[in-house]
Amino acid sequence: MIFGLETSCDETAAAVITRGGEILANVIASQADLHAPFGGVVPEVAARRHLELVAPVVRQALGEAKVTVDDLELVAVTRGPGLIGALLVGLSAAKAFAWGLGLPLAPVDHLHGHVASLFLAPEPLDPPFLCLLATGGHTMLLDVHAHDRYTVLGRTLDDAAGEAFDKGARVLGLGYPGGPELDRVARDGDAHAFSFPVARVPGLDFSFSGVKTALLYAVKELAADEVDRVRADLAASYQRAVVQALVERVHEAGEGTGLDRVALVGGVAANSELRRALPEASVVPLALCTDNAAMIASASRWVAPLQPPDYLDLDAYASVA
Ligand code: KG4
Ligand code: ZN
Repeated sequence: MIFGLETSCDETAAAVITRGGEILANVIASQADLHAPFGGVVPEVAARRHLELVAPVVRQALGEAKVTVDDLELVAVTRGPGLIGALLVGLSAAKAFAWGLGLPLAPVDHLHGHVASLFLAPEPLDPPFLCLLATGGHTMLLDVHAHDRYTVLGRTLDDAAGEAFDKGARVLGLGYPGGPELDRVARDGDAHAFSFPVARVPGLDFSFSGVKTALLYAVKELAADEVDRVRADLAASYQRAVVQALVERVHEAGEGTGLDRVALVGGVAANSELRRALPEASVVPLALCTDNAAMIASASRWVAPLQPPDYLDLDAYASVA
């Protein structure tokens, strides 16, 4: 059995999976409420909270999986990219946990983890396939040719898609975290009430900074009570523009590569409009779209593990490797 730990942003997460990809426990302690008053994740606050949560979350995962530490054969942990202080808490905890048990440690890239959410039971997706990875920090189109290998076909030149949802939600006065809230509010709106264009950049890259500015100007032109009245329309129209940009690129990449299977991963894959617009795409359950440790444990199955004590000087990294 594999034990996974993930602390790259504001979720403290631990999981136990089998070698075959069956999830025995997938515990996620969200810090969202803690960061809500600030309208975004405060890195130092996140790191301190991870420190408080990591031991209880590890214990809870073992309890829910009904296993003891003697059943574990490998510890997997997110090494980056993410918030460096947050990552260091998880990495240090994982080193101590593995070292204390005499177990090997597998350092996992967070983005590889999101892709590997697709490799979990009961319906694992086998490469090759086209993958849209859209989170709060990254937006990429990937040609996934093996379980441990992908080529980046396109990426965002500015904001990530999740960031575009979060910033749009903030402009609309919706709560934090904004993406799920904007998704919810948009359900009651008319997606054609406003026209928000999305920049078309060359190749298969994305750009979301313009659409965010367009929303800001649209809101500024309206009186406050008017914004209240059309908030759902604004949300739906904005969501349509962002989703359309993602979907167009997925179709173009599909034609360009000849890959006929598409998958969506990352927090934005939870978006109901995106799922509706790409009905043919493979998606994982919502709890596996946003940050979790089951996906990290899943990815570790294709990572060469380090033996004790070789991992003790391993460092985290904040940016894409
Ligand atoms: O993968 P994730 O949990 O964390 C990162 O690695 O960034 O993604 C979080 C992002 C946030 O920007 C959040 O607003 C967005 O995913 N998100 C959504 C939805 N659920 C989460 N965006 C749009 N619609 C949703 N339903
Ligand atoms: Zn993530």
